[in-house]
Amino acid sequence: MVQKLLTHERDPSILILDFGSQYSELIARRIREANVFSLVVSHSISIEEIKKINPDGIILSGGPNSVYEIDAPVCDRDLFDIDIPVLGICYGMQLMVSQLGGVVAKATKKAEYGRAPIMIDNDADILKGVQNKSIMWMSHGDSIERLPKDFFIIAHTQNTSYAAISNNKRSLYGVQFHPEVIHSEYGMQLIKNFVYNICKSKPDWTADTFVEETIPRIREQVSDKKVLLALSGGVDSSTLAFLLHKAIGDQLTCMFIDQGFMRKGEPEFLMNFFDKKFHIKVEYINSRDRFIKKLEHVTDPEQKRKIIGNEFIRVFEEESKRLGPFDYLAQGTLYPDVIESAGTNIDPKTGERIAVKIKSHHNVGGLPKDLQFKLVEPLRKLFKDEVRSVGKALGLPDEIIKRHPFPGPGLAIRILGEISNEKLNCLRDADWIVRDEIKKAGLYNEIWQAFAVLLPVKTVGVMGDKRTYAWPVVLRCVSSEDGMTADWSKIPYEVLEKIANRIVNEVEQINRVVFDITSKPPGTIEWE
Ligand code: XMP
Repeated sequence: MVQKLLTHERDPSILILDFGSQYSELIARRIREANVFSLVVSHSISIEEIKKINPDGIILSGGPNSVYEIDAPVCDRDLFDIDIPVLGICYGMQLMVSQLGGVVAKATKKAEYGRAPIMIDNDADILKGVQNKSIMWMSHGDSIERLPKDFFIIAHTQNTSYAAISNNKRSLYGVQFHPEVIHSEYGMQLIKNFVYNICKSKPDWTADTFVEETIPRIREQVSDKKVLLALSGGVDSSTLAFLLHKAIGDQLTCMFIDQGFMRKGEPEFLMNFFDKKFHIKVEYINSRDRFIKKLEHVTDPEQKRKIIGNEFIRVFEEESKRLGPFDYLAQGTLYPDVIESAGTNIDPKTGERIAVKIKSHHNVGGLPKDLQFKLVEPLRKLFKDEVRSVGKALGLPDEIIKRHPFPGPGLAIRILGEISNEKLNCLRDADWIVRDEIKKAGLYNEIWQAFAVLLPVKTVGVMGDKRTYAWPVVLRCVSSEDGMTADWSKIPYEVLEKIANRIVNEVEQINRVVFDITSKPPGTIEWE
């Protein structure tokens, strides 16, 4: 058993074939929430590969194409004959129907988008516990016209007679709606029915089993070699540091490059926490002067990011030579990065995945590809929430696990225009007050990010009998699921008032506080 874990990574219990749906990743997340390991693979995976993986079940994702288009993406037809249960979702269902001899065409009633109550026609095992007339999330322009042999309708909606279908004999199922989205009321119930009752998957994917399985694998990969990790203090690199330290102890060296753009007290906190408390070797590199010098007279946000990114790489290279040599570089790559860089969009002409362009500014702090290191990336199959659970299982405190996201270039992109040490100190103090009051009000964990932004203009104010002429800060507090879209947080007036009062009273050089009430889109979360 142990031998198998060392040489073979865990295979997914549920394999998701991706036909380009924006929700493919979400399906995997939902199944993992049910503690079952699942992975997203290309729809073009061969039947031999599927047999080798031998999953408990297969899900065919939705997708933007119509099955009757000439170049529509398909899967290997034989996968319906290998005695592994299959669930087709939206496009996936239509593909199953058309590959097994049924007919799919443009919807004759009208295309159905959004919420729709489903009427259950048959108490099939996949719908067990799903309430009749409950809301499911629809998104389709095509409909089934004729079912293949041995298939039955098990649910319908007002607009489609084929909302859910099944072939019990062969454990093949299809749903026209998206059980994976949060708006589908009994979606998770349906997913659990499929994975637990139909596929008989075991709920054995937990943070503890992940740690248990990953540690021997890291030891096997690294052997007695040395590993370098760039620690930022975020949840990913911190979890990685704990995991690697547990696996290889002092063969790990963490490097913490202080660019000078961190929040008040954070460098000290990090060094105390990792180095002193947990005896994880951290090399503290004070590069504050280098970075601020490079940014002299720079006002353009993209240029700032580029300079910071390049300088980071330069410092990293110099320091790794000085401290090394190292054989391995550890990176906190996560599963969404892996899926996104492979691309989830399918070109209808070639059936190939189209690489998704990742916003350049979110890569700042990333390392160049030609570094002479081999990579250790033990988190590359995990979603962010799973990294948090693993971090928690390894003993990381809430202070790190629940830390708000913080951009790689740090406070440098929260000072508009040219930065200076004076402005950095001001912003650090204001930002500390924001966090302090948000925490005191018990709002920290409800909010995605809460911070201050310094504007490079001066406004007039009055303090005591004196006129002031100083900078304003913007208070930016947003709620979000993933940072892609966001809404401004409705912070109680009393909390806003406290924050504003404290900032203008405690931070010299700031005499005005304004509150940003823009959502994303059209605004972004950061101001630069
Ligand atoms: P925006 O401003 O694009 O931000 O709405 C979305 C999320 O990304 C974070 N962000 C960054 N993270 N380097 C990073 O590592 C960056 O340059 C960067 N810019 C924005 C931002 O804090 C938010 O969580």
